[in-house]
Amino acid sequence: MLFEAVSLAVLVLLIIKASQRPRNFPPGPRGVPILGYLPFLSNGEPVYRTMKKLAKTYGPVAGFYVGPNQPFISVVGPQAVKEALHNDDLNGRPSNSVILARTFGEKLGVAFTDGEFWREQRRFTMRQLREMGFGKSSIEYQTMEEIRDLIDEIKNQGKSNEDYIVDFKGIFVVSVVNILWAIVGGERFQRSDAKFKRLLEDIDLFFRVGNPVRANVPVPVFLLQMFPRLRSYFGVESDMFEPLQTFIKETVEQHERSRSVEADIPRDFIDAYLDEVKQQSVKNSSTTFTYKQLVATVQDLITGGSETTTNAIGFTLLYLIHYPQVQRKMQEELDQVCGTALPSLALRASLPYTDAVLMEVQRMNTIAPVTAPHRAMKDTQLLGYTIPKGSILSINIDSVLNDTDTWKDPHCFRPERHLNVDMTKIVKNENHIPFGVGKRMCLGEPLTRNSYFLFTSSLVKTFEFSAVPGQPLPTLEPVVGFTSAYDGFKAVAKPRSTLTQAL
Ligand code: HEM
Ligand SMILES: *[C@@H]1O[C@H](CO)[C@@H](O)[C@H](O)[C@H]1NC(C)=O
Ligand SMILES: *[C@@H]1O[C@H](CO)[C@@H](O)[C@H](O)[C@H]1NC(C)=O
Repeated sequence: MLFEAVSLAVLVLLIIKASQRPRNFPPGPRGVPILGYLPFLSNGEPVYRTMKKLAKTYGPVAGFYVGPNQPFISVVGPQAVKEALHNDDLNGRPSNSVILARTFGEKLGVAFTDGEFWREQRRFTMRQLREMGFGKSSIEYQTMEEIRDLIDEIKNQGKSNEDYIVDFKGIFVVSVVNILWAIVGGERFQRSDAKFKRLLEDIDLFFRVGNPVRANVPVPVFLLQMFPRLRSYFGVESDMFEPLQTFIKETVEQHERSRSVEADIPRDFIDAYLDEVKQQSVKNSSTTFTYKQLVATVQDLITGGSETTTNAIGFTLLYLIHYPQVQRKMQEELDQVCGTALPSLALRASLPYTDAVLMEVQRMNTIAPVTAPHRAMKDTQLLGYTIPKGSILSINIDSVLNDTDTWKDPHCFRPERHLNVDMTKIVKNENHIPFGVGKRMCLGEPLTRNSYFLFTSSLVKTFEFSAVPGQPLPTLEPVVGFTSAYDGFKAVAKPRSTLTQAL
């Protein structure tokens, strides 16, 4: 009897609390008691679209609750998005059992940590990656090796039938992961490696089942244990990460074994990190550099980098199939500037149209329509509203890249918009932010800038891409999850006659 009475009282209090909003909280829908707006989110609709609808009703900063005490802020449109991303008090990341499940139940890595821990780890990671050759010629060389392998794969598949039809599902991710893996310190995988395939499928699954709002609901661990199906509802299966983590751990162990003298220059990211772990462990008991943190960081780099880059490449081919005149123009520029050779970073400045095409694809199809979730580290302001400490923010990049005031005709695929009048130079609009901005901006941007360019320009130089004869054009609609993926498609990839030299 007492138990029931107490339960009822708690319930009533929760309902009362759920219907209260802090002072100056952004306007937004109330939803239902206790669950808040959660039940109304994303029944099949991508969250970034729900957010845009909310913005139409409530304005660029809309607030609601998911669950009884979790404020959630939807941020839409250039002004609100940039203000939010430049506000360092909004630079935190949420932490809950779903996110923690990725990294051994602890808050580790660079993508989902915050505060001083994150700053220190992010700084170290970026510095090492820069030194390891993000953008250096050794990485360019390795990237071109992967590209040649990919070109062979496409040619071989095309040769197997009269029409040069190639299946583009899952074809790029192998090359992309190999490059990331080479930078952190792993060995190259073969396309046919079954273990590797399984690993890639797990990563893909994580991104596809992911729902950016649900994944942020603070679900207690015991609930996940009691109802295993909740895990997939909320978008995380921790088992997904085990094969990848095992791979990383094995690679780290190999590094420890094969490293000869102490004074050796680090060969790659893992070596550099292990050196730091060793140094810190003798002099500093409060160090953030640990073996586990190394594994989590490498996992963040591989998972953060593989899906995104792969889909950027896939969407570029799709857009060029839809816009053959753009493809032709790009090929003319590439032929003129590169002759019979494949493109290189040194020639990039002479390839403004090619660069503009890539920028336009990234604008039209935002690979990451919303940023990874941000968290308010303390009470702060956004467009004059109060954002309470602990709020989770979903920040909509897509609304900036598709903003009518900025782009005038955002729905038109028009690479020229990124060029100056005589079409000789890129003009960067400050609202072209596919990687976000501010201190949380994508850590892989310098690498992607180069690898995405080398991949797509080499492919377009080598092949003429078109739809399979007699079939409709493959869809430009993304498959949404945490990121927007291209739907697996088949297309014709006919080797171009200008490129007759041996690769
Ligand atoms: C087309 C390719 C890519 C796109 C569009 C992209 C986009 C983004 C975006 C929008 C964010 C979130 C920013 C925020 O939360 O405010 C992000 C974060 C991140 N990205 Fe990328 N990314 C790409 C490639 C990569 C690559 C190749 C890597 C790895 C080498 C990478 C690693 C990361 C990491 C580690 C974070 C978290 C950074 C942090 O929280 O401090 N990304 N990316
Ligand atoms: C000790 O570790 C903490 C946390 O990682 C760091 O902030 C501090 O700079 C380190 N001290 C030294 C002497 O390296
Ligand atoms: C971009 O905006 C246009 C209208 O300005 C709209 O028709 C289109 O659906 C939007 N695209 C996306 C991906 O939201």
